[in-house]
Amino acid sequence: MMITTNHCQTLFSFACLSCFFCFCSEFSCAASTSRVSIKHGDFIRDKEGEVLVSNGFNFVVGFFGFQNSSSRYVGIWYYNIPGPQVVWVANRNKPINGNGGSITISTNGNLVILDENKTQLWSTNVSIIDSNKNNSEAVLKDNGNLVLSNGKVVLWESFENPTDTYLPGMKVPVNGKSFNFTSWKSSTDPSLGNHTMGIDPEGLPPQIVVWEGEKRKWRSGYWDGRVFTGVDMPGSFLHGFVLNLDNNGGDRYFVYNNKLLLNGTSSVRFQIGWDGYEREFIWNQNEKNWTEKQKGPHNEWEVYNFCGGFAASDLLVSGSATCSCLQGFELKDKGNLSGGCRRMTALKGEQKNGSFGEDGFMELRCMKLPDFANLVVHTTDCEGDCLKNGSCTAYAEVMGIGCMAWYGELVDLQKFEHGGNTLHIRLAHSDLVNNKKIVILIISAVLAGLISLGMFVWLVRMNKRKLKVVSTASPRKNSDIIPMFDARKSRQMSAELSGSIELSLEGNQLSKTKIPFYNFICMSAATNNFSEENKLGQGGFGPVYKGMLPTGEEIAVKRLSRRSGQGEEKLLVYEFMPNKSLDCFLFDPIKQTQLNWARRFEIIEGIARGLLYLHRDSRLRIIHRDLKASNILLDENMNPKISDFGLARIFAGNQNEANTTRVVGTYGYMSPEYVMEGLFSVKSDVYSFGVLLLEIVSGRKNTSFRHSDDSSLIGYAWHLWNEHRAMELVDGCIRDSCPKNKALRCIHIGMLCVQDSAGHRPNMSNVVLMLESEATTLPLPVQPLVTSMRSYEDREFYMDGLDVSNDLTVTMLVGR
Ligand SMILES: *[C@@H]1O[C@H](CO)[C@@H](O)[C@H](O)[C@H]1NC(C)=O
Ligand SMILES: *[C@@H]1O[C@H](CO)[C@@H](O)[C@H](O)[C@H]1NC(C)=O
Ligand SMILES: *[C@@H]1O[C@H](CO)[C@@H](O)[C@H](O)[C@H]1NC(C)=O
Ligand SMILES: *[C@@H]1O[C@H](CO)[C@@H](O)[C@H](O)[C@H]1NC(C)=O
Ligand SMILES: *[C@@H]1O[C@H](CO)[C@@H](O)[C@H](O)[C@H]1NC(C)=O
Ligand SMILES: *[C@@H]1O[C@H](CO)[C@@H](O)[C@H](O)[C@H]1NC(C)=O
Ligand SMILES: *[C@@H]1O[C@H](CO)[C@@H](O)[C@H](O)[C@H]1NC(C)=O
Ligand SMILES: *[C@@H]1O[C@H](CO)[C@@H](O)[C@H](O)[C@H]1NC(C)=O
Ligand SMILES: *[C@@H]1O[C@H](CO)[C@@H](O)[C@H](O)[C@H]1NC(C)=O
Ligand SMILES: *[C@@H]1O[C@H](CO)[C@@H](O)[C@H](O)[C@H]1NC(C)=O
Ligand SMILES: *[C@@H]1O[C@H](CO)[C@@H](O)[C@H](O)[C@H]1NC(C)=O
Repeated sequence: MMITTNHCQTLFSFACLSCFFCFCSEFSCAASTSRVSIKHGDFIRDKEGEVLVSNGFNFVVGFFGFQNSSSRYVGIWYYNIPGPQVVWVANRNKPINGNGGSITISTNGNLVILDENKTQLWSTNVSIIDSNKNNSEAVLKDNGNLVLSNGKVVLWESFENPTDTYLPGMKVPVNGKSFNFTSWKSSTDPSLGNHTMGIDPEGLPPQIVVWEGEKRKWRSGYWDGRVFTGVDMPGSFLHGFVLNLDNNGGDRYFVYNNKLLLNGTSSVRFQIGWDGYEREFIWNQNEKNWTEKQKGPHNEWEVYNFCGGFAASDLLVSGSATCSCLQGFELKDKGNLSGGCRRMTALKGEQKNGSFGEDGFMELRCMKLPDFANLVVHTTDCEGDCLKNGSCTAYAEVMGIGCMAWYGELVDLQKFEHGGNTLHIRLAHSDLVNNKKIVILIISAVLAGLISLGMFVWLVRMNKRKLKVVSTASPRKNSDIIPMFDARKSRQMSAELSGSIELSLEGNQLSKTKIPFYNFICMSAATNNFSEENKLGQGGFGPVYKGMLPTGEEIAVKRLSRRSGQGEEKLLVYEFMPNKSLDCFLFDPIKQTQLNWARRFEIIEGIARGLLYLHRDSRLRIIHRDLKASNILLDENMNPKISDFGLARIFAGNQNEANTTRVVGTYGYMSPEYVMEGLFSVKSDVYSFGVLLLEIVSGRKNTSFRHSDDSSLIGYAWHLWNEHRAMELVDGCIRDSCPKNKALRCIHIGMLCVQDSAGHRPNMSNVVLMLESEATTLPLPVQPLVTSMRSYEDREFYMDGLDVSNDLTVTMLVGR
């Protein structure tokens, strides 16, 4: 594509600089080449190469055209990025013939485009009351928004009348006043093309759809409060888009804010291309070109409903994909893989006398959820509600969205390699094969088995050093102990546990790990038949009961979600921790006085050594990913035990870092690279440890700073540290009694652990060394910038008040 403009500045010459010099010094000079505003009587003429620039010289409004064509258009492009890369076009369907065009404010106060004969080709077309007509003024904002105002009130803006490009800062309403982006016709023809992109008008939860004419071509998947669930979203998304509430009208809108991620310096744009693909581009200043970050559809099989109804595409080893019918379905038309599938056994449908029908649900993990979801509000039983309605074919419970149900055919399904959501599809009883349940069970057991090898790690212990896990038995059919391990299966399962990471787990090694099992009746007796009085609490995976074994040993039993149908029960047996978790002490004004300095230091040391074990000494490197005060349990001697490995990832020995598209964890404890780019490593745990350390020393929650001058505990700690007042950070109730140099050293170590850059943070063996040996001198920490910015924490709402967990990677959420 060859775009021609008339103006020197796109050529990046020195002449360009000097012309701005002149412009700046002669601000009011009517003949200046570049203006910052257009008022009544001002003209911007193509012939003279005149343009309107934004205040900070980010964007320009001017005339452009294409080689071999006399058609000229008025558009917006980046001031200092060559191309020019046009992001908006005014007269896209009415080009100016020849270079006699001009932009001005008409007598009725609108911004207009005139051709050489002063014929109006385009207008902002707003009605303006007489007394204001002479006050109209058009300016180009630094974010690329062309705004017409009467000095005070905005009358019209290009951000509300976009063409094919979304720019950061643009607000796209979700309902009602939404608008579409329409592609160019070709790379050299900005007139309206056949492809549009916009918010799905079919309702909630919101998603982005690309249409070809009226036909859906691609969709982003539902917005879950943080990401679009159907897109393998690269890091930039994680902090990019937010769904905000308008202060005035209560309208909700999507807006992308790249300030935090890109230091506000790089340019990002999303475009619906003339070829029908949605793309995200980031300007790469080093390579001097636009890097494509994301594309929808990315592959052939991401095209809308590629496989037809009740079918899903599945990735092959070769890198391509194939379509297959969902379990319980068969091809409608044998030999046509894209023709969709039909149900093999009819559903029982309606509810029978009192008991639910004989249909059941099959769980499909890592799915792009089907189109046309219905948001089910005010329900406590998503599965039950679906079962009761004869036409409900599937349901899903997604964190950040809630309960969704589908009626009729399921279209545009896709199976992801990782990420995605869990979909429950309804099948007749005879078509249900219940293997998924066992999978989950074994994963838990394997994970527990691995972790149990460590002394510091608490997970599933009942007798000293002897490991017990999981009991399973069907209360209906068979109360015998079920043999659990099949070496081949275990290997497979542990691989699934860690995503695509290969584990060198040998079957025989596993079978050496003694894992005793308890039958259901024993557990039921121990917990007084799971009575309400014995209930300790409710976690993400199900209720937890206190129990006592015949030997007198106290245990906690987690009963994993009972809904899973088919009468199978999964229980996890834990050592009972009478002192609950660290947060109960640390953040309680009364109880925190029980934690004197020595005790706090022991807890810090204990956690550090526990983490070191996970990171280094365990045969498989384990990254906890959700280290926080509520996951540190205290035994009767106040010894800390790291718990809740719901999010843990096991790493092969030589692997240092992994990437995930599902960032799960707890805000405030998550490292910047994890939150923003989905990158996690042992250094993300170090970061969480640093936050925890500062919390233990200060007795304050990292997130309790939201309404104070400092954005977070980290910001506050830095601020005091920097002013040599770090002792003020120490919890008031121990400040006078603690050894000053030890406390300062702890804070220092904490500051080293919470540095923005993972590379700057020490590893856990360094931390243990620093804690234990006073002799080592500590490096100076770099100021943590990211976490001192307020917007980092604004996203906390995501975790607030949600308790639906939809797959194994989500752990118990602690309400704040
Ligand atoms: C412009 O026209 C000339 C002659 O017709 C042709 O050779 C050239 O390829 C055209 N350039 C573009 C960009 O279309
Ligand atoms: C302007 O008017 C002249 C004379 O009527 C005509 O020749 C010319 O084509 C017009 N220009 C445009 C762009 O319509
Ligand atoms: C301008 O607005 C009026 C009504 O507000 C509408 O009838 C007319 O078609 C619009 N013109 C253009 C060029 O959009
Ligand atoms: C607007 O400007 C025109 C020409 O400059 C003038 O004739 C007219 O009276 C002005 N109108 C108002 C309301 O000031
Ligand atoms: C966007 O385009 C689609 C497809 O043409 C259409 O169904 C939808 O109503 C449009 N949305 C808006 C807000 O105009
Ligand atoms: C757009 O659609 C029209 C008719 O629907 C068709 O004639 C034309 O070729 C299409 N253009 C593109 C670029 O697909
Ligand atoms: C943000 O700024 C930091 C320090 O100035 C720099 O190291 C980093 O590369 C910048 N990030 C981007 C995406 O430009
Ligand atoms: C950007 O430039 C680099 C090096 O010049 C090149 O390798 C890369 O392919 C370019 N990317 C695009 C999208 O053109
Ligand atoms: C397969 O099914 C699709 C959708 O029903 C249809 O468009 C296509 O023509 C069929 N292909 C063959 C080879 O029958
Ligand atoms: C449902 O229960 C009622 C009485 O409780 C009985 O009369 C009826 O036959 C039952 N229907 C079926 C389908 O079992
Ligand atoms: C099932 O749900 C659909 C969609 O909400 C509704 O139209 C239909 O009436 C429901 N059927 C029954 C039996 O409740």
